[in-house]
Amino acid sequence: MDRTQMKWWRKTSFYEIYMPSYCDGNGDGVGDFPGITSKLDYLKELGIGGIWLTPFYQSPKIDNGYDISDYYAIDPDYGTMADFERFIEETHQRGIRVIVDLVLNHTSSAHPWFQESKSSALSPKRDWYIWKSPSDQGIPNNWESFFGGSAWEWDPDTEQYYYHAFAKEQVDLNWANPEVRQAMKDVMGFWLDKGIDGFRLDVINFLKVSGQFQDNPVDGNGDQIHLYDQNQDGIVEAIGEICRYVHERDGIFMVGEVGSEDMDILRRYSGSGLLDVVFNFNLGSQEQFLPADLYKQIKLMEEQHAPDQLPTLFFSSHDMPRHISRFGEGDAELEEQRAKLMAALMLTAKGIPFIYYGDEIGMRNHIAHRIEDMRDIQGLGHYEVALKNGRTEEEALNIARTKSRDYSRSPMQWNGNRYGGFSDQAPWIGMGPGYEQIHAEAQQQQTDSMFAFYKRLLKLRIQYPALSMGDYVKLDQLKGSAIVYTKRFSSDEAVVVLQFGSEPLHLDLSDWSDQELELVAASKEPLSLGGSVVEVPPHTAVVWVS
Ligand code: GLC
Repeated sequence: MDRTQMKWWRKTSFYEIYMPSYCDGNGDGVGDFPGITSKLDYLKELGIGGIWLTPFYQSPKIDNGYDISDYYAIDPDYGTMADFERFIEETHQRGIRVIVDLVLNHTSSAHPWFQESKSSALSPKRDWYIWKSPSDQGIPNNWESFFGGSAWEWDPDTEQYYYHAFAKEQVDLNWANPEVRQAMKDVMGFWLDKGIDGFRLDVINFLKVSGQFQDNPVDGNGDQIHLYDQNQDGIVEAIGEICRYVHERDGIFMVGEVGSEDMDILRRYSGSGLLDVVFNFNLGSQEQFLPADLYKQIKLMEEQHAPDQLPTLFFSSHDMPRHISRFGEGDAELEEQRAKLMAALMLTAKGIPFIYYGDEIGMRNHIAHRIEDMRDIQGLGHYEVALKNGRTEEEALNIARTKSRDYSRSPMQWNGNRYGGFSDQAPWIGMGPGYEQIHAEAQQQQTDSMFAFYKRLLKLRIQYPALSMGDYVKLDQLKGSAIVYTKRFSSDEAVVVLQFGSEPLHLDLSDWSDQELELVAASKEPLSLGGSVVEVPPHTAVVWVS
């Protein structure tokens, strides 16, 4: 693969694979590298240009691999180093790149670094993590873990607390310590030598906490505002240090997860000498379907990103319920229509698309009906806290359901077999609803399927730079429910109409482009009303190019 071709990622559509849920190659109910490798022809046919793998390193998997106990080993559930190397080779042979998720903020409590740090207050690795003595109230401050309860865990042996922003088994590293930075640069160098094309850096704006350890403020609903445990001074410098190290090698893509909705914060992290782009939830996290808000977000991204900063485009991930289920109001036809509209938005707008596995076939949310069926530590953690706070089991289950991220983590639906062709054994998590009908094999044959629509758009994005790299020359909202834009690259233009509303939309294409336009994709055919006037049916996406 040609590494010297700079900024390949500007025109690449990525595809996120949640490691345990894609394809089980050895029949143990958990996805793995041999399984994924066997599906590369499917991904080639779909037309994606890059894969994002969630963590596959050795891990007790309290949080499905976001708790790493050995950064240099493949978790045996996912295969061997040889399986990984073969996967990289076969992916590259098909012209697809690979970026890997790396957790720099915390390690597993089972990591030897932490074991050493915990062994004695005088350990040379003591300062690799964040240890604090009790305050007068006991715990050092009010900081809360994202998975429920205090972010401080007491260690009776050395009589200090350690800090964990997530589960107590995910211990935050002390990034103020230069040895920690060096250790992580070594880790990155190791994986770069294996031939990967970039990193997705997990919760990168958590790397440092305030040295004063002040209490976080609490809002009117009793929710904590994470003022002193995120986006602290010194983080940008730390990220700059690792980015400069990685960018010594040409063409390596660095995307960092920054959980913030504040554009001022987001902008700090990317640009020259820093991350290439930030992965954030502004556009994607709508719980309800609100086209006017989508429009506002696109506008905002356009106005506030510097010219060398691109937004990321995604609506689902392993941390969010699937957007087809969030947006479809439980009506199967509307779900399909809106999911196709979102596909068109994602694959024609300005930015870098990240498709979440299974969205290309319209997989729906998986729901854990009983606590025994819930797998996610975030749901389970909040369940425990609710019970401790005196809630009934039913109340605790309801709270857990609002926090759980299991919804989007069910096995990929490959065919109509038992367990959807994912495995011949019961999978580690329940199957998604309707998996007997909703699957890749059927959709690869149908010309009007979700798969066919994604495939068409992905192909167009490669074929027409106006779609992948064009700037908006026009961007507007019509009648409150349609988003329309014209994008231009060099002298080529593309006009995209996303009619989210339930009425037909009339528009004159000559208002959007002076060039002669050709219709190249439509989730439903528009009608020609004579000349350049067209009628776009309700809930329909249409793309024209010059
Ligand atoms: C990121 C991951 C999420 C994980 C958390 C802690 O937000 O996307 O899945 O639980 O970091 O590592």
